[in-house]
Amino acid sequence: MHYLITGGAGFIGTHLTKRLLREGNQVTILDNMSTGREDRLTGTKAKIVIGDVTKRNLVSSLAADCDYIIHLACVVGVRLAMDKGCETLRSSYLGTESVLLAADKHNKEALIASSSAVYGKIMRFPISEGDDSLLGASTKASWLYSVGKLMEEHLALAYFREWGTKIKIARFFNVIGPYQTGSYGMVVPSLISKALKGEPLPVYGDGLQTRTFCYIEDMLDGLKVVMEKGGLGEIYNIGGKNEISILELARKIKDLTRSSSDIKLISFLSAFGPNFEETSRRIPDITKLQNLGFSPKYSLDESLAMIISHYCSAQ
Ligand SMILES: NC(=O)c1ccc[n+]([C@@H]2O[C@H](COP(=O)([O-])OP(=O)(O)OC[C@H]3O[C@@H](n4cnc5c(N)ncnc54)[C@H](O)[C@@H]3O)[C@@H](O)[C@H]2O)c1
Repeated sequence: MHYLITGGAGFIGTHLTKRLLREGNQVTILDNMSTGREDRLTGTKAKIVIGDVTKRNLVSSLAADCDYIIHLACVVGVRLAMDKGCETLRSSYLGTESVLLAADKHNKEALIASSSAVYGKIMRFPISEGDDSLLGASTKASWLYSVGKLMEEHLALAYFREWGTKIKIARFFNVIGPYQTGSYGMVVPSLISKALKGEPLPVYGDGLQTRTFCYIEDMLDGLKVVMEKGGLGEIYNIGGKNEISILELARKIKDLTRSSSDIKLISFLSAFGPNFEETSRRIPDITKLQNLGFSPKYSLDESLAMIISHYCSAQ
């Protein structure tokens, strides 16, 4: 198979590209390198096209030569989206529309990467694909990322219903692994890099908010199940089973790295300003994907140990 991966030079895209190539596939990446890194793909057989996913003609010409489109490109993460609101919404809408138009024109299937962020702050645990979204006021810029991902989903589903465009949607929950950067506020790489340098470990609020982390290899297994066995026009949660509070996570990372760092509680207001609203808990219901054969394997301790060892060997 020949895959076109938008955003393929990012954290998830790099792992996905390497796995697809190992399995004997061909991969073309389209990435504007805003947060992506070309050097991690050096020596692979991936074809890298540097360009923007919002450029319709470019996406269409690349899609014409491939068998399957995986759309990962977007401004990723709550913090980055807060700082780059216009680009976030613009690239979510125009980028996803480019992909859908190309998929429709060339009769190719497209997998749209969404996020657990679409559920917002709804208090339902675990949360499944048909549950409601609950987003805060538009004056709180921290909902921008969620709005962008919801817009991608709505657009893809509208193309499916109205034009029969072949799409599937995967909602990822807090994926972690080597290559993920802490520069844009992702909690695990940020805490690990600080712990290894002996710097204070920032934990926001009271630290009792929880997340459920999923190791990249498990997430890629889930993605494969969605692409091979998922239904068109369907949405699938992809996540792990490792729920932990952020305070407990910081303690665990401190222990695993044998760090002398102190854990420092910082209020959300002083860290993110008044336009931020936190989600207190997120646990995916992965029954729908489990029924197709998905089963995440890695514990949080195993995942963190692999990431820390990757950090240490890269230094
Ligand atoms: N990492 C997670 O935990 C997580 C969780 C939920 C959803 N997701 C989704 O998975 C996808 C990949 O996320 P990631 O963690 O690998 O982030 P990432 O920032 O590492 O990757 C995104 C890639 O897209 C590229 N990009 C951004 N805007 C672009 C544009 N306009 N044109 C072309 N390329 C562009 C970036 O350069 C980068 O390489 C995203 O759609 C994200 O919303 C990730």
